[in-house]
Amino acid sequence: MTRRLLIAGNWKMNGLLQQARKLGEELASLFKEEKSPSFDMLVCPPFTALSAVQEALKDSGILLGGQDCHFKESGAHTGDISPVMLKDVGCDAVILGHSERRQDHGETSALVREKATAAHKEGLLTVICVGETEAQRDAGETLSVVGEQVRDSLPEESSANNTVIAYEPVWAIGTGKVASVQDVAEVHAFIRSEIEKVLGKENAEKMRILYGGSVKPSNAKELLSLEDVDGALVGGASLKSDDFWAIAKSQD
Ligand code: PGA
Repeated sequence: MTRRLLIAGNWKMNGLLQQARKLGEELASLFKEEKSPSFDMLVCPPFTALSAVQEALKDSGILLGGQDCHFKESGAHTGDISPVMLKDVGCDAVILGHSERRQDHGETSALVREKATAAHKEGLLTVICVGETEAQRDAGETLSVVGEQVRDSLPEESSANNTVIAYEPVWAIGTGKVASVQDVAEVHAFIRSEIEKVLGKENAEKMRILYGGSVKPSNAKELLSLEDVDGALVGGASLKSDDFWAIAKSQD
């Protein structure tokens, strides 16, 4: 089964308008120069820069995403952004259940699932994040934690067309520590088997599973060459167009 690679950039809380526009323009011109790219590319700037980056990416073929959304369409939810608003500003996708949302905002898998359903209704591709903490890994709980997150976060209408899973061990995010190739291979294969339990064999075979956590140009090739790794969710290294591009091209 060949799954098209997805290289996704999570800019987190970085990017004032001028920098965000410049980064978007640099990536757009690199992507346009590529005659027939062998990968999909997604960038997820902060909400405040979505409009500027949408302009910069226009007609480039690079997908645009938000970093979170509410499960309601509109209403009295101060500070929140709805899926329909993301669509309105030109988004194709949304990251949900990132560990920083789970930790900083107490988001549960049940909430992630509600958000994903709302995002799917608007036709957004959801990038649903899962991953264990260091304490959970040390306690030998990696597979049980990740399995539960996958089963509980995926709404029943999820399919390979509207959903991507991102496996991001919490202890590898922004730390420079990367999970070993064996660990990544094991967890990704396990996630695919969990997807099969919830959504059936066909969706499990087709659904892309990204790895995230300190991905950089120097380790991307090894990670992306693993059978069940279908792309990367990149934080820090997605803020420099050269590094992000080098990650995307590391498979060529
Ligand atoms: P990192 O972040 O690449 O900076 O480790 C990845 C992420 O949190 O998505």
